[in-house]
Amino acid sequence: MILAGVVIEQLGRQHDRKAFQSGSAALDRYLKQQARQDAERRVAAPFVAVCPPDAGVLGFYTLSASVLAMEDLPEDLARRLPRYPKVPVTLMGRLAVDQSARGQGLGEHLLLDALRRSLAHADQIAAMAVVVDAKDDAAAAFYRHYGFFSLQANPSRLYVPMDLVAQLLG
Ligand SMILES: CC(C)(COP(=O)(O)OP(=O)(O)OC[C@H]1O[C@@H](n2cnc3c(N)ncnc32)[C@H](O)[C@@H]1OP(=O)(O)O)[C@@H](O)C(=O)NCCC(=O)NCCS
Repeated sequence: MILAGVVIEQLGRQHDRKAFQSGSAALDRYLKQQARQDAERRVAAPFVAVCPPDAGVLGFYTLSASVLAMEDLPEDLARRLPRYPKVPVTLMGRLAVDQSARGQGLGEHLLLDALRRSLAHADQIAAMAVVVDAKDDAAAAFYRHYGFFSLQANPSRLYVPMDLVAQLLG
């Protein structure tokens, strides 16, 4: 796989998901059986990485609007916000790379694309952070590698403030 030839686009009928294998049966099942329905019902927006003209999916992520309880945020961050009970965030619900494409920068490419897309949309539909749910310790380590912080109340839920995303990508 050459990363330069990879494009990331909204999941559509043309994308071949049959062979996708991330090592997580739940993530594979989601992509194959649930992702299109979620998109149609507008509960998640799935994006896939492909290397045209081959339409086989090499990786994917999903984005949705979500909220965080203010009490779950660390004090230093909560202090800078109005005292609302909940604050808007963008949830990256899932992220996975096919095992054949691992270790070549595609996970980073997908994550940065998701952050860039989240930042671009936050100007019009506010979100003060991007939040992820790590399915295990390895996934949490991947997100920490990119500056995500664990929520104290729930260490498998991690976030990065949108201000920091803007600085990192700016
Ligand atoms: C996590 C995952 C997306 C990484 O994809 P990948 O394409 O292999 O990752 P990349 O090649 O882009 O790696 C980018 C960087 O992250 C680092 N990295 C990758 N996996 C890591 C991990 N588990 N912990 C810490 N760092 C990790 C790499 O060392 C690399 O760092 P470097 O650029 O400083 O050398 C992939 O392993 C995967 O799909 N795992 C199964 C599903 C999963 O756990 N998803 C996470 C959400 S629940």
